[in-house]
Amino acid sequence: MTVIEAIQQGSARLENAGVESPRLNAELLVGDVLRIHRLSLVLDSRRELTTEQFLALEEHLRRREAREPVQHILGTAEFYGREFRVNRHVLVPRPETELLAEWTLQTLAASSVEAPCLLDFGTGSGCLAITLALEQSTASVHAVDISAEALAVAKVNASALKAPVTFHLGDGFAALPGGLQFDGIVSNPPYIPSREIAGLDPEVRDHDPLLALDGGAEGLEFYRRLATEAPAWLKPGGWLALEFGDGQAADLLRIFGGAPWRGAEVRKDDTGRERMLRIFVAG
Ligand SMILES: C[S@@+](CC[C@H](N)C(=O)[O-])C[C@H]1O[C@@H](n2cnc3c(N)ncnc32)[C@H](O)[C@@H]1O
Repeated sequence: MTVIEAIQQGSARLENAGVESPRLNAELLVGDVLRIHRLSLVLDSRRELTTEQFLALEEHLRRREAREPVQHILGTAEFYGREFRVNRHVLVPRPETELLAEWTLQTLAASSVEAPCLLDFGTGSGCLAITLALEQSTASVHAVDISAEALAVAKVNASALKAPVTFHLGDGFAALPGGLQFDGIVSNPPYIPSREIAGLDPEVRDHDPLLALDGGAEGLEFYRRLATEAPAWLKPGGWLALEFGDGQAADLLRIFGGAPWRGAEVRKDDTGRERMLRIFVAG
């Protein structure tokens, strides 16, 4: 079988299995077994796959047909231009979370704090904490997660990408040493209402960790916790930058509606949906 035939047949199989963007997925999987970047496959389109490559591709396609995320099959996901290791213990980093990283970096650039102290609440693969540590080299970045398995992945990523991040294992702020005070806290917490999880795409429902998805009955549990607990961990004038689910903006503005919170701003993702909140504590 040639490379182009493998892509065409793989794409058709994935389309039948209900996979979104089947051609792109087939190219990524063929590229992986040939150890060639997807965009260079065209130069090798008439090359024959070896038996080992053919069998490896069969296994990849079988997993993707069963709706395992392509990032789990490849073992990596791209975030903010860098490659992160991922597995079933961490949420696959999403493009909209790159927008939260970008907004956070803009917030830091606009502030007069030269060496900010930051926290990533619910770090998963470490994508936010590591990106902030690398893009804002004067920052000291802390990250917390309740999942030891997720934290192990985040540590591998931090070490591979040479990002100085201090990791803490445990339940939110209770896992942090007393005395820390942050200039800013970023978080993409679990925000799916519990009863909606069963109706998600199989890639998410069956392969992202439940701990990363379940935000309680209304999906708002972590925002309520952050609204009441974060002020004690923020310096005067410090800020929170949060990702939330489509349709939750009004709930978030209500939850963060009273003192000491002020200066709320909501931003949209690339599809025009309101997905991020930045808010300050009184200075
Ligand atoms: C939606 S994922 C976000 C992961 C990563 N920050 C990202 O944006 O890709 C939420 C993360 O919060 C963690 N988490 C859930 N409950 C937590 C808690 N009580 N304290 C700390 N982390 C928690 C989960 O293990 C998961 O890694």
